[in-house]
Amino acid sequence: MIFNAWMATLNPGDEVIIPAPYWVSYPDMAIMCGGTPVFIDTKMEQGFKIQPEALAKAITPHTKWLLLNSPSNPSGAAYTRDELKALAAVLVDYPQVLILTDDMYEHLVYGDFEFTTIAQVEPRLYERTLTMNGVSKAYSMTGWRIGYAGGPQWLIKAMANVMGQTTSNPCSISQWAAVEALNGTQDFIPKNKKLFQERRDLVVSMLNQAKGIKCPTPEGAFYVYPSIAGVIGKKTPSGTVIENDETFAVALLEAEGVALVHGAAFGLSPNFRISYATSNQCLEEACARIQRFCGSLS
Ligand SMILES: Cc1ncc(COP(=O)(O)O)c(C=O)c1O
Repeated sequence: MIFNAWMATLNPGDEVIIPAPYWVSYPDMAIMCGGTPVFIDTKMEQGFKIQPEALAKAITPHTKWLLLNSPSNPSGAAYTRDELKALAAVLVDYPQVLILTDDMYEHLVYGDFEFTTIAQVEPRLYERTLTMNGVSKAYSMTGWRIGYAGGPQWLIKAMANVMGQTTSNPCSISQWAAVEALNGTQDFIPKNKKLFQERRDLVVSMLNQAKGIKCPTPEGAFYVYPSIAGVIGKKTPSGTVIENDETFAVALLEAEGVALVHGAAFGLSPNFRISYATSNQCLEEACARIQRFCGSLS
């Protein structure tokens, strides 16, 4: 979906604003489609969310797209209605900027957090917003390869042209399966949400007990993105210095057999990402090993 939209619209020199940390595929997709990714670094203290001033500063006459992904892979951060309104207030002044919102984790928000998407909060952005979703996450249908998007007619037509001349189509069997998922009973979604929320709380609590790790509580998705600033410069018992999040990930894998993705892969360090879309037992064991590993650093 994203690839089709960018393939249909980007020309050399066009910029795509991508908040960091980002899902790893966004920058490469922008580059493959001829665009130039421009990153806005976020801060953990600001919930990994871009601020209106930073957005205004990043927009240039070459900006073609702003990408939003809320709840986010990898941080789990999700924008409130008011936060989106503040970003929208900036965007109304730049009519050349298209907005792509990747709402893949729409159904995975926790507590009383209410999911909102930018086209809901500012009618003036409606005609230049592409709202994207898919069945991979909430419906656990990753392998079915179905995404969908709503946006201005000219853009949807252009995306259909790209798709028609490349992959031709998503297969009809997958399309019917997605129709069933979206029209069928939704009663498993609240049940899954409850499970995920328990897992999030378990992982956040256990990681915050690991020496040198700070893990904020994200609003949604099934990821946490803790900071490891507190262990940078420390040494493992075998003498490896933890220089950055990559050395942390490798040393942890070697010492404790826990695999996680280092923050540099998502464009914001020093952090790591854990997906908690797995069993409580596995998460408890992994977090206990991370605690042991951090405790062994000096
Ligand atoms: C933010 C985000 N968008 C899109 C996707 C793509 O999902 P799929 O290709 O399975 O439809 C993913 C998958 O990890 C994701 O995390």
